[in-house]
Formats: sequence, C-alpha cells, structure tokens
Amino acid sequence: MTDERLVSLAKEAMERAYAPYSNFKVGAALLTSDGFYFTGCNVENASYGATNCAERTAMFKAVSEGFTHFSKIAIVSSSGTFTPPCGICRQVMTEFFDRDGYVILNDDMLGIKTIPMQDIFPYPFDETGLK
Ligand code: THU
Repeated sequence: MTDERLVSLAKEAMERAYAPYSNFKVGAALLTSDGFYFTGCNVENASYGATNCAERTAMFKAVSEGFTHFSKIAIVSSSGTFTPPCGICRQVMTEFFDRDGYVILNDDMLGIKTIPMQDIFPYPFDETGLK
C-alpha cells in the first residue's frame, strides 16, 4: 500500500472523529507488516483525560484483531498541516512497530513527509527496561 493511499484512508477516518470539545479532528491509518490496514479517529470525552487519540484507536483496533506488527502509520488532522503523534502514542507505537517502520505526516500544501520510527522516538522505554 502506498503512503498516499494510507493518507487518503486516514482522511476518511478523520471524518468520523468524535471531537466536540477540541473541534480538532484527527485520523490515522495503519499498515500491518503482513499488509492489512486499520483506521482510527480521535474519540473525546467530557472527562477530557479519557480521550483516545486517533493513532491509538487504530493500533488498538489492530491488536484486538490479532495484529501486533506494524510497518507504517499515516496521520492527518483538520488543521491540514503536519500533525505529529503525541508522546503517549509514540510509546505505544514503539511496542508494535518494525525497526524500519515509519510515520507518514501530511500537509495539504506541502505534501507528505515520512519520519523513521527511530527518529521520532529515539529512546523508548521497552521490554529491556523491565529486566
Ligand atoms: N490528538 C490525536 O488524536 N492525535 C495526536 O497525535 C494529537 C492529539 C487528539 C486528541 C484530542 O482529541 C485532540 O486531538 C486535541 O488534542
């Protein structure tokens, strides 16, 4: 699946965002290492801290369907500009992404930018930290 197609799927998912508090809609589309895709949107809550980001929605959907290896994720937002993932989502990504995995950001004017996972989250806490 091309990066462009994944961005387009993320844009479709963004339309389903539940964001009545921030009015900031986010969409994500994730490709698993074996070629399946999952989408997600942000899901807000009147108790703001209960909000789930679009990226984690997509990742948790995939994991709950039995997919735990991911190769890339596209993220878009209603800002129309590059929207990098929050720190919590980066931590969740590091659990499941391949070493050569990457994040795809989109700006409606500038186009697509890709960032290797190792650059976007260089010092993750992972299972080696639990030993
Ligand atoms: N949000 C995401 O869905 N992903 C991000 O990477 C950044 C933030 C959502 C959470 C909240 O619903 C809204 O954007 C404003 O923070």
